[in-house]
Amino acid sequence: MQNCTDNTIQSITIIRPDDWHVHVRDGAMLQHVLPHTARQFGRAIIMPNLKPPVTTTAQALAYRERIVAALLSAIDKDGVSKFQPLMTLYLTDNMSPDEIHRAKESGLIHAVKFYPAGATTNSDAGVTALRRCYPVLEAMQEVGMPLLVHGEVTDPAIDIFDREAVFIEKVMQPLRRDMPELKVVFEHITTKDAAQYVTEADGRIAATITAHHLLYNRNEIFKGGMRPHYYCLPVLKREEHRQALIVAATSGNERFFLGTDSAPHDKNLKEHACACAGCYTALHAMELYAEAFDQAGALDKLEAFASFNGPKFYDLPRNVGTITMRRENWIVPVELPFNAGVIVPLNGGAGMNWKLL
Ligand code: DOR
Ligand code: ZN
Repeated sequence: MQNCTDNTIQSITIIRPDDWHVHVRDGAMLQHVLPHTARQFGRAIIMPNLKPPVTTTAQALAYRERIVAALLSAIDKDGVSKFQPLMTLYLTDNMSPDEIHRAKESGLIHAVKFYPAGATTNSDAGVTALRRCYPVLEAMQEVGMPLLVHGEVTDPAIDIFDREAVFIEKVMQPLRRDMPELKVVFEHITTKDAAQYVTEADGRIAATITAHHLLYNRNEIFKGGMRPHYYCLPVLKREEHRQALIVAATSGNERFFLGTDSAPHDKNLKEHACACAGCYTALHAMELYAEAFDQAGALDKLEAFASFNGPKFYDLPRNVGTITMRRENWIVPVELPFNAGVIVPLNGGAGMNWKLL
């Protein structure tokens, strides 16, 4: 895509954004990564794929307490204390509709995540056949609880680069035909097929888009050798798909909003014979998005994507307060060591053009 950067724009101030899809993990990793998210975002939808997964309201509320405790220990950092975690449940074949009512009544659980069993990290306990979950989905439809969808089929006969497009036909369309009132977020879309589907579909559907899928195509994984820090699921796709995602994110269409899918793994598990999927972007998320929107000549569209469209879909108010980023060169750290290991951020060692103040 042509680089349309307008160098006359030196700074950008937007209403504080939210991250509508993030993995903050637990324990020592949680303590280490959470301040990065809390520094930039007012709220974040917290993914439930812990080991074991967060399948009940009681588990989600206990996880929330651990997140709040981790925030308190970082309270001296400006703004960190105001951050709100929005909890989710992990859908399983055995979930009862009563769980949805308990979750709704808690006021702290905002969505349910659907992982097809085996699709990605810690998805073994995920759904084997969505029909088994129809009583739960009906309860969600009734109380207005969104379903967050990892949209990839798991059939090993389907090429990994086609799994999202096949999912639309095999799972998404039948689901939305059977549950027309269910609010659905097609998470971390990676293809022109998904962008088109979300643009054209009837009803209450939206999609999150990551910064890495806006910035890179699949060549990035293989540039000069195997680069596991660019491996995530759904995997990066061809350039034509990246361009379709840029068009969607910068279109002003309210159905598209920010979800980093920042997914930290210890360096040993990324630089491994069977590397874990996930890109760590929480460190510099807004700066990565600013880069992508700037390259598309669409910095004026960043605020709606990052700060307006998500709360509208989730029926929440916009954040109060703002963040400011300045055009400034800085180098992403190569490694982020913490007491229990090392995280390698996406783009470590590379130059960035935007800096969050
Ligand atoms: O790359 C990914 N990493 N995709 C996912 O769906 C899960 C995530 C993780 O939890 O590591
Ligand atoms: Zn994710």
